[in-house]
Amino acid sequence: MKRELLILFFWLFSLNVCGQSIQSPNGNLSLSFALTTEGEPTYRLSFKEKAVAQESKLGIEVKAQPAFTKGFTVAKVDTSQVDETWEPIWGEVKRIRNHYRELTVTLQQPAHKNRRMVIRFRLFDDGLGFRYEFSEQSELKYFIVSDEKTEFNLTGDHKTFWIPGDYDANEYAYSTTKLSEVDAYRGKSTQDPAVRTVIAENAVQTPLMLKTADNLYINIHEAGLVNYPAMHLLVDRASFNLSSHLAPDALGNKAYLQTPCHTPWRTIVVGDRAADILASKLILNLNEPSKIQDTSYIKPQKYVGIWWELHVGTSSWNYADVSNIKLAEINWATVKPNGKHGATTENTKRYIDFASRHGFSGVLVEGWNVGWEDWFDRWKEEVFDFVTPYPDFDVIELQKYAAGRGVKLIMHHETSASVTNYERRMDEAFRFMKQHGYDAVKTGYVGKIIPRAEFHDGQWMVNHYVRVAEKTARYQIMVVSHEPVRPTGLHRTYPNWLACEAARGNEYNAWSEGNPPEHETILPFTRLMGGPMDYTPGIFQIKLDYYEPNKKEQVHTTLAKQLALYVTLYSPIQMAADLPENYERFMNAFQFIKDVAVDWDDTRILEAEPGDYLTIARKAKNKDEWHIGAITDENARISEISLSYLTPKRWYMGTLYSDAADAHWEGNPMAYQIRNFLVNNQTRLKVRLASGGGAAISLKPASSEDTRRLKPY
Ligand code: NOJ
Ligand code: CA
Repeated sequence: MKRELLILFFWLFSLNVCGQSIQSPNGNLSLSFALTTEGEPTYRLSFKEKAVAQESKLGIEVKAQPAFTKGFTVAKVDTSQVDETWEPIWGEVKRIRNHYRELTVTLQQPAHKNRRMVIRFRLFDDGLGFRYEFSEQSELKYFIVSDEKTEFNLTGDHKTFWIPGDYDANEYAYSTTKLSEVDAYRGKSTQDPAVRTVIAENAVQTPLMLKTADNLYINIHEAGLVNYPAMHLLVDRASFNLSSHLAPDALGNKAYLQTPCHTPWRTIVVGDRAADILASKLILNLNEPSKIQDTSYIKPQKYVGIWWELHVGTSSWNYADVSNIKLAEINWATVKPNGKHGATTENTKRYIDFASRHGFSGVLVEGWNVGWEDWFDRWKEEVFDFVTPYPDFDVIELQKYAAGRGVKLIMHHETSASVTNYERRMDEAFRFMKQHGYDAVKTGYVGKIIPRAEFHDGQWMVNHYVRVAEKTARYQIMVVSHEPVRPTGLHRTYPNWLACEAARGNEYNAWSEGNPPEHETILPFTRLMGGPMDYTPGIFQIKLDYYEPNKKEQVHTTLAKQLALYVTLYSPIQMAADLPENYERFMNAFQFIKDVAVDWDDTRILEAEPGDYLTIARKAKNKDEWHIGAITDENARISEISLSYLTPKRWYMGTLYSDAADAHWEGNPMAYQIRNFLVNNQTRLKVRLASGGGAAISLKPASSEDTRRLKPY
């Protein structure tokens, strides 16, 4: 009896004071959980004996009820392990291994009728995910989250790649500073996004990328954001403790929950090589499997469209130069056209012809539907109806024309952030699409949200984006969303939700100071950790004074780097964003965009350093073809590219598209060269990238003609 009591005592002691620890499957990561003497839940995380997060508190505050932050005892601890492999519908790799150890801690609050909260930790070889769970309890059915108290208590003044914490905007250029130097009001390009709601001077967004002085790479984000607001981080610039900050609703509340329920996963991806951060599938693994049964309509693809001409200003979204439109009253037949309208039947046919000639399956048309005359900055409800074309856009005629050429039009629904309006009209809009042969839609949320005083990142909008994914799935429609909350791996669950913008895209090069040459070397470590981005690469006419002598804007890369982005910025849907007439001037370079795949069997991160450079090789789905992209920031460099992953004893024909010797993103951005040669798995390429430059490479098994004609590299 005495001995049993002793064992019981030690067991309770270990649960409550010493806490619980688990190791990742390969032992690299250790996680420990403990309660403080106040009964506050805490965790610590280390990677190969180096601390990643020191004692960090956990908890949730709720309205009109005691907080889930202290006064806990441990009721139960469970551990388990999972090792399984699954195949995404589309992706960067063919198979994904989901391998983790799990620690589930059930906590209870004796002072509050033993109210319970579970914290579930999943420890992978490349990081940690954890979330809060609430079972149905007599004391807990409906509740309002007033704050989340999750900490990431970092160990030093790490180098940080950040954009301001903002409830509405994520279209910022990144600042790279120490944690102690974060200043959300003074970072780069803080004035650019049209609608901004910066949270506080010390607020930053996730995915947040950090590098420690002893070369650990750390990425903090979340996975599976559903029915909850997005998490931002407040930086304690003296102690380097980061704490969660949730986007509020119009009343200042954070989330309305009903048990049983759980929060999204909080994620920390860790590695001692930058490449390991990019290769991580942790966020996808923490998301639910696909909810879509019939995925046959979901097709990775490349598209062109009436888009860049609108951004450089040679044509317009609006049909007339009037304002003060009342959608229900205006008679478009009597309105005088401005003569600049981009989305005409004739212009659309030109893009369809181009797409069909060069093997693109989609043609996006923006500005086809009435309402653009005062779409922006009015905060008005009835902006668009999504079913009425302008008088010069013939939907039926274009449906026939496109179908005859094996091309599909891509629908555009700019909501102007009038989301109540969109919600009322969505079903009709999707039916209209299906009737007219559209199976993909680009949505947009430019402006201040309606319901007024809601934010892009709040629970209401998070639920809206998911509703759109679910509803479009019911209509068998693919979606690309612009200006949504940043992605958290939900494309696993909704593979029809192909891509999001949710960051500063190429469009900023058309009408702002632009994206600095380092921008695309940071995006994969930040925004793309959550999912594919519709960056819209492929601009060949780099300087915009080509269109109008006074224009100072330019793309901040070389032409060759624009090609490389098709590989380095992953998306299953990629736009060839420039005008057909510009591609016609550089057909030999355009060949890479025609050839590059959008769905992959394998991905190798060959060289990587956030903010500096990135080289990725990818194997096309079901083909022995590889495409490689290498990019650099403003510093020229030599990229050394191993081809060891090629099938042994086989010759491939390589086509290298690279910066010319005198190329420079600013001084001479369009100078490129193309070389063909033979390579095999022993070859090591050395490619010079210009300042702001890049290189793209296609590798295909060599024909006998190739082996006769070409020399080895
Ligand atoms: C912003 C989007 O990012 C862009 O692609 C689109 O052309 C405009 N909004 C208009 O909807
Ligand atoms: Ca945008």
